[in-house]
Amino acid sequence: MKRIDSKKIKAACDRIIARICGTYVGDEQLVEKILAAALANGHVLFEDNPGLGKTLLSKLLAFSIDCKFSRVQCTPDILPADILGTKVWRPNDGSFELFKGPVFTNVLLLDEINRSPPKTQSAVLEVMEERQVTIEGETHRCEEPFFVLATQNPIEYEGRYPLPEAQIDRFILKLSTGYPRSLEEEKLIVNRRIEWKKDDPTRDLEPVISAREFKGLQKVVENDIYVDDVVIKYIAEIVRKTREHQQVEVGASPRGSLALLKASRALAVIKGRDFVTPDDIKTLAVDALAHRLILKVEDVMRLIDERKVIKQILEAVSVPKYYRER
Ligand SMILES: Nc1ncnc2c1ncn2[C@@H]1O[C@H](COP(=O)(O)OP(=O)(O)OP(=O)(O)O)[C@@H](O)[C@H]1O
Ligand SMILES: [Mg+2]
Repeated sequence: MKRIDSKKIKAACDRIIARICGTYVGDEQLVEKILAAALANGHVLFEDNPGLGKTLLSKLLAFSIDCKFSRVQCTPDILPADILGTKVWRPNDGSFELFKGPVFTNVLLLDEINRSPPKTQSAVLEVMEERQVTIEGETHRCEEPFFVLATQNPIEYEGRYPLPEAQIDRFILKLSTGYPRSLEEEKLIVNRRIEWKKDDPTRDLEPVISAREFKGLQKVVENDIYVDDVVIKYIAEIVRKTREHQQVEVGASPRGSLALLKASRALAVIKGRDFVTPDDIKTLAVDALAHRLILKVEDVMRLIDERKVIKQILEAVSVPKYYRER
């Protein structure tokens, strides 16, 4: 484990967050969490009503780290090839030409993923996990960094194919932008729009770091952040408790523990540390674990939600006071 320059890395993260929040109005902690997911090389699932700034946020993130961005609107008739790409026959020279789909990008926004049919969902989720695309027997590596933000609509629509649990499990965090938190924010959004004088303020956004530097930060998060045994035990206890909770039918898997670990290392870096604290775990536990739980049917009827279950668990598990910082 290399010693890292935490101050310098924090400064880079601060610049990214400031660049995003220069346009996006809302919770800075949410922006930190999205950045944490990206730094941890994980994908994010958004559940929100329309028009709350998800497309804006995704583009701002992509462009501020000098990355390519593409967006796919999922529909009930979308095919895997519409996202992955396909081979097209060129009669002129008698060969097949590879037509790369929108998945060949750095930041991919999949809007309303739960409207796409199961075959397309599983094709995409496979790419997310394996970071490679197979088109007619030929395998291509995804670009690096590669980060998927998928949105699903909470409103009951016709023609929805809910994501199966195994696929939801692939998202490192599930987040929601939510509505503006105050009248001030509401006004600021409108005022910013007047300042921009155009609908897409992201078009000439200057990046604050290069995609290569961002990849470097991802490596630091993966390799150089210390997590004390006591903190690991804390993660394990929280995750085990999700399986013992009386309202839970199926608890979080070890993939849940790993997601929480990875996101926490990234949050540590954002906060200017080279070690994870129990507070990092607490900050991310709900977003990293709630979507992995399946509640018992009778409790779903009582409208107890998964996020509440994780909050209860966090209150029940004692927070380690003494842990090593390195
Ligand atoms: N928090 C916000 N800060 C700044 N602008 C915002 C915010 N929320 C929404 N907007 C503005 O409102 C418009 C709609 O936002 P956007 O397209 O990002 O929403 P969305 O969540 O992607 O919606 P949909 O679910 O329909 O795709 C954009 O012009 C965006 O600039
Ligand atoms: Mg959108």
